[in-house]
Amino acid sequence: MSKKALHCKIGPSVLNADLSQLYSESQRLLNSGADYLHLDVMDGNFVPNLTFGHPIIKCLRPKIPEAFLETHMMVSKPEQLKCQFRVELDCRGRRDRGSNLGQWIEPSADAGVDQYTFHIEATDDVPLICRKIRESGMKVGIGLKPGTAVSIVEKYVDLADMILIMTVEPGFGGQKFMTDMMGKVKWLRNNYPELDIEVDGGVGPSTIGLCAEAGANMIVSGTAVIGAEDPGKVIATMRDVVENSIQKNQLER
Ligand code: DX5
Ligand code: ZN
Repeated sequence: MSKKALHCKIGPSVLNADLSQLYSESQRLLNSGADYLHLDVMDGNFVPNLTFGHPIIKCLRPKIPEAFLETHMMVSKPEQLKCQFRVELDCRGRRDRGSNLGQWIEPSADAGVDQYTFHIEATDDVPLICRKIRESGMKVGIGLKPGTAVSIVEKYVDLADMILIMTVEPGFGGQKFMTDMMGKVKWLRNNYPELDIEVDGGVGPSTIGLCAEAGANMIVSGTAVIGAEDPGKVIATMRDVVENSIQKNQLER
């Protein structure tokens, strides 16, 4: 069977962008060579911060119809399929008996999200969430916080399209890259040569070499791209480093 070719993909995070200009900031990143956009959804519970959710993404989607959108779901209950807190009302304030939407998964799919990346620490039922995400038509990403051992994800790798190794504690942009997370990336790459492995947190031109060498091929970068004078140059530099590592590793295999 032929091997799947691994590709480098750069997905800037808009977390530290000017969120009052979400569309123009997103378009600027796409024009700068982003392969996808990494949208950090936070619920103020799983992490001590709040951002935006599917209603805003639904407004953004038609303005950038071709973009691949990944949501990084830093939420406590990614599996909650029925809305427990919201009384379903129609636009005249009457109870909407027909609605049976999930709290996050189905509304995300409805908003036009392409990949739903949730945290393994936030659920007891990883297979159920993976199945629901797929049934909703999205790709599946599973994320691990810095304190979570990589061996825990082994039994779920086949259910996922991508594994995310956090290189900072989730919740805020602009934090220091945790070099000691590279062991997890190396372990995954050694065991799964064709897996999409994403890193997120403190990744930029000064840390991309470590990520690439460890085997990451999907690169989230927030402040290093957003704050750059020339975001296109930063994206291109990181892409070169990762592509070179992929080629080198494939020759060595
Ligand atoms: C942190 C978020 C990251 C963050 C990355 O919780 O998941 O996506 O925005 O930003 P930088 O690259 O600035 O660490
Ligand atoms: Zn993120």
